[in-house]
Order: sequence, then structure tokens, then C-alpha cells
Amino acid sequence: MGQEVKFNVNDGVAVITINNPPVNALNAAVRQGLVTAFDDAEANDDVKAIVMFAEGRTFPAGADITEFGKPTVDPWLPDVCNRVEATCKPVVAAVHGTVLGGGFELALAAHYRIADPMTTFGLPEVTLGILPGAGGTQRVPRICGAEAALDLMIAKAPISAAKAVDLGLIDGVSRAHVRDAALDFAHELIGKPNALRPTRERTEGLSDPVGYARAVAAKRQALAGNPLFAPAKIVDCVEAAMLLPFEGGLAFEQAAFEDCLRSDQSAALRHVFFAERKATKAPEVARAKPRPVEIVGIVGGGTMGSGIAASFLDAGFGVVLVDRDQPMLDTALARIESVFDKAVRKGSITAQMLDERMARLTGDIHYFAVSEADLVIECVIEDMSVKEQVFATLDAVIKPGAILATNTSYLDINTLAAGVAHPENVLGLHFFSPAHVMRLVEVVVGEATEADVVATGFTLAKKLGKIPVRSGVADGFIGNSILAAYRTAADFMLEDGASPYQVDATMRAFGFPMGPYQVLDLAGLDISWARRKRLKSTRDPEMRYIAIGDKMCQKGWLGQKAGRGYYTYADGSRLGVEDPEVLGLIAAERERKGITPRAFGPEEILYRCLSAMVNEGANLVLNKIAQRPSDIDVAMIHGYGFPRWRGGPMKAAELSGLLSLRNQLREFAKEDKFWTPSPLFDEVIKAGHGFDTLNAV
Ligand code: CAA
Repeated sequence: MGQEVKFNVNDGVAVITINNPPVNALNAAVRQGLVTAFDDAEANDDVKAIVMFAEGRTFPAGADITEFGKPTVDPWLPDVCNRVEATCKPVVAAVHGTVLGGGFELALAAHYRIADPMTTFGLPEVTLGILPGAGGTQRVPRICGAEAALDLMIAKAPISAAKAVDLGLIDGVSRAHVRDAALDFAHELIGKPNALRPTRERTEGLSDPVGYARAVAAKRQALAGNPLFAPAKIVDCVEAAMLLPFEGGLAFEQAAFEDCLRSDQSAALRHVFFAERKATKAPEVARAKPRPVEIVGIVGGGTMGSGIAASFLDAGFGVVLVDRDQPMLDTALARIESVFDKAVRKGSITAQMLDERMARLTGDIHYFAVSEADLVIECVIEDMSVKEQVFATLDAVIKPGAILATNTSYLDINTLAAGVAHPENVLGLHFFSPAHVMRLVEVVVGEATEADVVATGFTLAKKLGKIPVRSGVADGFIGNSILAAYRTAADFMLEDGASPYQVDATMRAFGFPMGPYQVLDLAGLDISWARRKRLKSTRDPEMRYIAIGDKMCQKGWLGQKAGRGYYTYADGSRLGVEDPEVLGLIAAERERKGITPRAFGPEEILYRCLSAMVNEGANLVLNKIAQRPSDIDVAMIHGYGFPRWRGGPMKAAELSGLLSLRNQLREFAKEDKFWTPSPLFDEVIKAGHGFDTLNAV
């Protein structure tokens, strides 16, 4: 037996202990170790009962996800679970931590389960595009019926130990060490008649066939139109648990599991799981210790500043908010309180928690109020001269060693850093709106930024429950650079014959919550107009320039805030209506340039938009603005609404073939230089293994 599973006998009870840090994932060695241990325990006449336990922070948190997509290695997890369940001596699982996926299924194959009270349980496979494939879809409904089983497998939220007891999935919780409690429980079972209780033989959950069928039908109906593949398969499997004998149900589940595992959706979702974790790693994080941060100063209490303040307050920090004058400060403080009010109304925090958060917030109209802050984030308007002024003022009041951060979305942080005494303490922390909700934070590293300042940015993001992505300095960093390329591709099509409404509808059908022109209307067309003006002097004169957005801005059609943009918004409504005058403006622009419009189908619209994103993404990696392609996926999913189940633009491109993309880009490049394929494609295609090597850094 390897080191991953140990076996010892304690007064007639065998304790089988799993030890595979960090989360005791059920890899091939653990699976083999378990089978050997159960064989040994069964053969040993001194053993009358068995306790299954795991060292470290958790009972297995699932199958080993790194093994998915590779050749399978025996024994399979379903066979291990069946082996555990078939043991002729009572088996008690002693569980703690996050008992998830295959780990929960392994526990369900034991005859009894005793849990630490803080344990959480879940079957989150659906988040990886798969289903509980180790008997979970068959065993869970046998205990707690279809409705609760489907909730557990599709709603994704883990449940508490108390709830698991209520559902009958757990036999008890114990405040004592859970292994000792399980040992006591196992000793009591010895010699008792009917001590064996295989879950496959349980029928409580199947006792009301009509209610069961109704719950299955209701879930099937609720999922109608859901683009995900796995949830519907889960419903089929849970239905099979009622209709088929256990072995038949297991075979049905296995086939459905394999269908899911082979799907592009699962490849994409598994990629995102690792990409999110990889994004939190950066060279500076590996080599430097973060600086301590307890008090955070925020300058500018607009939408971004207030959202960022709420986020820090949620995470337990003290916050000092500075705004220009008393009325603006009062508005900002009220805006922050209203974020918490909403949370109280939703039940996510209590009124007492609101008070406690507000007690950690102070407001001032003088910059010296942030003199005790460990970190100050400026969130003033996106204008370099204003930001430079704010940084200069802050430089005079902050304490030694305090970090100066900017929430700029586009501007050069090296320029900002050059104006302060300690440029090594300057970094970008680019939050996304609404900042207390959106999970992405771009940690922008300037030429002079010290490693420990970068490490602090990453640590803070994690403490806020956000996902940090490291970015170098580029206009728009990672996310907005890609957004700009996406919009350019869309604008080209607008001028060539597509309508903004067609583009938006296509991108929504792909899975974005909004199309690019809806987003422009929401953000305000003047923001991208300002960027175009800023970049005018460096614009490549050989590159096609689309002036539609500029013309709309000149007319004052700035988006939702102006009541009209690409759509019109009557009476402050947020649901836009298509505007014939916009189509007229676009038609006039085509005429001015002598362009004969042509038809665009959704496939071409989608292809061009995605190709532009991926090409820009490849250049960002090539130019070392992004660390790895998977960081781009994370940024686009968490900051821009790219559908998670498509894996992000880089993964989606990889799944559909990088060679054909590169070749198509070459064709497009005959129309305009914008489409010139990134040299990164040639590198990756020659190396022959997609983005894997680049993602591994
Ligand atoms: N397989 C392989 N590696 C895993 C893993 C798994 N199931 N779960 C976590 N890890 C790895 C992570 O990649 C990470 O590795 P690095 O340190 O190299 O980045 C490390 O373990 C720690 O994970 P986290 O950073 O996520 O730690 P956390 O404390 O924030 O969260 C957790 C712990 C709640 C267990 C979280 O990791 C998690 O949700 N894991 C996945 C759980 C899951 O989806 N299980 C179902 C698997 S599929 C299955 O079981 C199929 C089946 O039915 C047969």
C-alpha cells in the first residue's frame, strides 16, 4: 500500500486513513490504496468494523480533476465505491472539511457517516460540466428523494452538516474529534444484527413515486433553454434511479458521465477551474511577502470608489473615504450604506452586520485623513492630469511604506508612478463595476513596482473574495485591450452592413449577458471616445478607422445616461429600444465612405468578434502584458461576462482549432491590417500542444 492510504487496527476496528494533500483528491494511488485497504480489512479476522477517515484539512474534496481527459487508470472511482459498500463488515465514514463530489460519493458508499459539525457537503460536478459519476445520482435520491437530490447536484451550493443530517445523508455530527466519534460508533455496531446498511438497498427516498416523478418533471421544465449539457443529464440519471434497478442506474449514470466528460463544455469548465487558481500565482507572489494592510484609504466616492469601499468593508478592513466636498462625501457614504441595506433586505447580511461595517467606515474631505492608511486607492475621474494631481497630494500625506494604488481602467501607471517620491509603492488595482459584486481585479504592475507591493495586491484581492489577474502596463491592460479589439471588429461589420442590434443579439445568443453596443450604452460612449482621442496621435494611419461612435458622441447620444445611444431609453428605462436614427447615421457613414453594405449572418459576426478577442489576447501574451492565455480567459469571464462554460476566448479558440483560426486571420488581414495574426499562433502551432505550455507558467 502506498503512502496515500494507511491502515491500522484499533481494538477490533480498522482505521483506513487517506492522506493526499492538499484536498485528498481521489487520484489513482488513493483509489488503489482504498481497494487494497478494504481487501486487507475484510480478510483480517481481528477486524470487526471499519472507519474511513482522511488526514489534513478535509475528507476527499472529489475525484482528482487533473486526471480527467487523460487515459483512465484502474480502479475507477465507481468501482471503489461499490467495493466499499459491498464490505461484509460495517463501514463508518468519519468526515470533515469540504466533502465534495467523489469524496461525498465515497462517504455515501459507506454504511454510516459521522461528521464534524463544520463540515460542508456538495456535489458540484455540474460546475465542471460533468455529473456525480461514482454512484451519487443513484445513492443520493435513494436516501433523500428526487427534489433534494436534484437541488444538491444542480443548485451547486454546498449544504451544512445540520442540513445533511436533516436530509438523512449523515447519521450524526460530533463535537469530539470525528475519527474518535466514528470509532465509538463503529464499536457499538460490532455484533449488532443488521449492522450492514448498504445505501443501494435504502428506499426512503423512493417511497413516493408520484412526488418523485413530479420533482423530476419540474426540474426538467426549469432547465428548458439552459445551454448547459450536464444538468439535463443529471435529471435523466435521477429519473433512472427510480425506474431502474441499482446496477442498471449505475450503468446509465456511467454512460451519461462519459458523455459529459467528452463534451467541450466540460473541457472548458475544467480549464476555468484550474485557470482561476493559476491566475492567483505570479512570480512576485512566490518571492515576496505581502505588506500588512488594515486600513484602506479611498479617494473618490463615485460608483467605483463606493463599490470598492463596500468590498473592503465586507472583508473586515477599516476604510477612510475622501471626497471633494461635504455633499459629495455624504452622497458617497449613503451610496455605500445602500449597498449594505440591499444586502440586509436580501438576507445575505444582518442589520447588526450592516452597523458593524458602517462603524469601520469614516469619511472626510481632507486628504490628510488617509495618513494612517496602509493602502490608498484613487478612484477619481479617468483623466491623467486629475489623477496626477491626486497622487501628488496623496504623496505628501501618506505614511512611509504605504501603497498608492490607482483604479484606472486605461491610463499608464508608469507615468503616475513617476510623479511620486516612491514609485516602487505604486500599482494598479483595476476593479470592475459594480466593484462589490464583480470578482475580477487586474493587478497592474508598473516598471518600478516592488514585488512585495504586487504580492500585497494579490493577497488583498483574495481577502476580498476576488480573482486577481496580473497585468503589465498597456492601454486598457488585459480586459479593456481585448474589449477594444472586440469593438473594432464589431464596428467594422457595422460599417460593412451589419446592424448593432444584430451584433448584440448574436453575442447574447453565444452567452454574453449583453452585446457590445448595449455595454457601450451602459458604460457611456464618451469613455471609449476619450480613449480614441487620447490615442489619436499614435494611431496607425494604415489601419481602418470607424467614426460612427465619434459621430454619435458629437450628437450627444452618449448612452443610457443621455437617454439615447445605440438604443433609446424612454423615461430613464434601462431596456433600450432599437433606434432607426442610429441606423440612418450608420447608413450615411457607409455612403460617405462609398461602402456598399453586405449581409452578415450570426456565424460570421460571432467568428469575427471572437477572432479579434483571441488575436489581441495572443498579442498580450506575446508582449508579456498577460502572464498566460488562461489569465485572459479568467479576465474575460469575471470582468466582461464571457460565458464560463465556453472556457474564455483563448480556450474556446483552442477547442475549435488554432490552425484554422490563424489561417482565417490571414484571410481577414487582406481586408485590413487589424487582423494580422499574432506571431504567437505560429509559435504555439509549431510546438503542437495548444496553449498548455504557456498556461503552465
Ligand atoms: N482535484 C485536483 N486538484 C484539486 C481538487 C480536485 N478535486 N480540488 C482542489 N484541487 C487543488 C487546486 O487546484 C489547488 O491546487 P494549487 O494549490 O496547485 O493551485 C489546491 O488543490 C487547493 O485548492 P484551492 O486553492 O481551491 O483551495 P481552497 O481551500 O480555496 O478550496 C476546495 C478547497 C473547496 C476543495 C476547492 O478546491 C474545490 O472546490 N475543489 C473542487 C471540488 C470539486 O469540484 N469536486 C468534484 C470533483 S469531480 C468528481 O468528484 C467527479 C465524480 O463524481 C467522480
